[in-house]
Amino acid sequence: MAGSHHISRRDFIKLTTAAVGTFIGAVVAVPAIAYLIDPALKSASTDAWVPLGKLAAFEIGKPAPASFTRSIVNGWEKTVNSYGVFVLRTSETETLVLSNKCTHLGCHVNWFADKQEYICPCHDAQFGINGQVLGGPPPRPLDRYSGDQVKVEDGILFIHFLGA
Ligand code: FES
Repeated sequence: MAGSHHISRRDFIKLTTAAVGTFIGAVVAVPAIAYLIDPALKSASTDAWVPLGKLAAFEIGKPAPASFTRSIVNGWEKTVNSYGVFVLRTSETETLVLSNKCTHLGCHVNWFADKQEYICPCHDAQFGINGQVLGGPPPRPLDRYSGDQVKVEDGILFIHFLGA
């Protein structure tokens, strides 16, 4: 005799369809929700080792320009910033990297080999080859990477960029 637990063929199909539908819904929804939430939980870290090119390509004693970009992800917003530096190999083993951003109001300085100075086009500031202020309104030397903020791996020069 059939008990109260008997399930008709039609009920079985309904139940199975509902279960499969729920499963498919979960398979689709879980990654979608994770995708939407994930960026908001990620921190916007800019701290990284940034490659500037082959060390051998930079001549000792001559500042040479280099540039790189860094992207900052803040929630759903992504910002890409460009940075310029001057690489100055002071010896076979030592390298100084200077930001090209003037410490007065942030214009980009240029290197003039004939004067051995970086000059800011905005208010005529002059910086020496190592970034020291020689004249004009800047309150401090050019920002620099040196010592353990600079490394060479497989012949490639890196700076430890902390963001700006
Ligand atoms: S921004 Fe460079 S001197 Fe003013």
